[in-house]
Amino acid sequence: MIGRKLIHYAEVDSTNSVADQLARCGEPAGTVVTANSQTHGQGRLDRRWFSPPDGGLWFTVILRPKTEPEITVQMTLLAAVAVCIGIEKATGIRPGIKWPNDLLVRGKKICGILCEMEAAETVEYVLLGIGINANVKEQDFGADLQTTATSLALESGRNVDGVQLLQEVLNQLDLWYDRWLTEGFSVLRKAWKERNITLNRQIEVDCGDTVVVGQAIDIDGEGALLVQTLDGSEQRFLFGEVSIRCLEGSDQSCG
Ligand code: BTN
Repeated sequence: MIGRKLIHYAEVDSTNSVADQLARCGEPAGTVVTANSQTHGQGRLDRRWFSPPDGGLWFTVILRPKTEPEITVQMTLLAAVAVCIGIEKATGIRPGIKWPNDLLVRGKKICGILCEMEAAETVEYVLLGIGINANVKEQDFGADLQTTATSLALESGRNVDGVQLLQEVLNQLDLWYDRWLTEGFSVLRKAWKERNITLNRQIEVDCGDTVVVGQAIDIDGEGALLVQTLDGSEQRFLFGEVSIRCLEGSDQSCG
């Protein structure tokens, strides 16, 4: 069960790094590593994740699904759905999901998810690193982040109870992980689509070496994003950084 064992630190470099060490040494599935602050919070694409003390929930869940590595792309979608519902239950705020797993409110990021894995032919363990900006104050974000990030406290006008939020999110993670293991991806796909803000929008997908522009049309049965490009062909993405274009023909990005 996710969250049966919680290991809490006042400060770590990154909860993903700590969880990685623990998982390597045999820590069982379901253990959650939390920290009040991170000195080197890791984001996707080698970015840093701003993780000030008392500002949010910074935690990593250790999982050991008996699957092939390819299928774990679905776990990032799973985390997005579970965290989205957990946030809504705890605060009434309903974030939207930008594929694959960024949670946004009014176009600003409220939660990021970093899914890492150790695998050979099958998965050894998966680390779901989740950062929720719960009580980060506007001035704490700094000028660069103020335009792209927000927090639950800023959106609701009141401080969020971190313990209740963590409980709701872990409950949802446990429920959706169990559903995914027993029922497969289809229920999860439906829930993801209900909360997504990516489909039917003009987007750009940055894959590092190329940027593809087109209309996001669906996610397939494996969780890949399907995009109809400007020349009418369809492309399939299992990874990439998506920007949503607010105004057709403009470069203005809203997520
Ligand atoms: C992203 O959107 O770039 C992913 C951000 C993930 C941040 C969380 S905070 C807890 C866990 N520990 C880390 O170092 N990163 C993840």
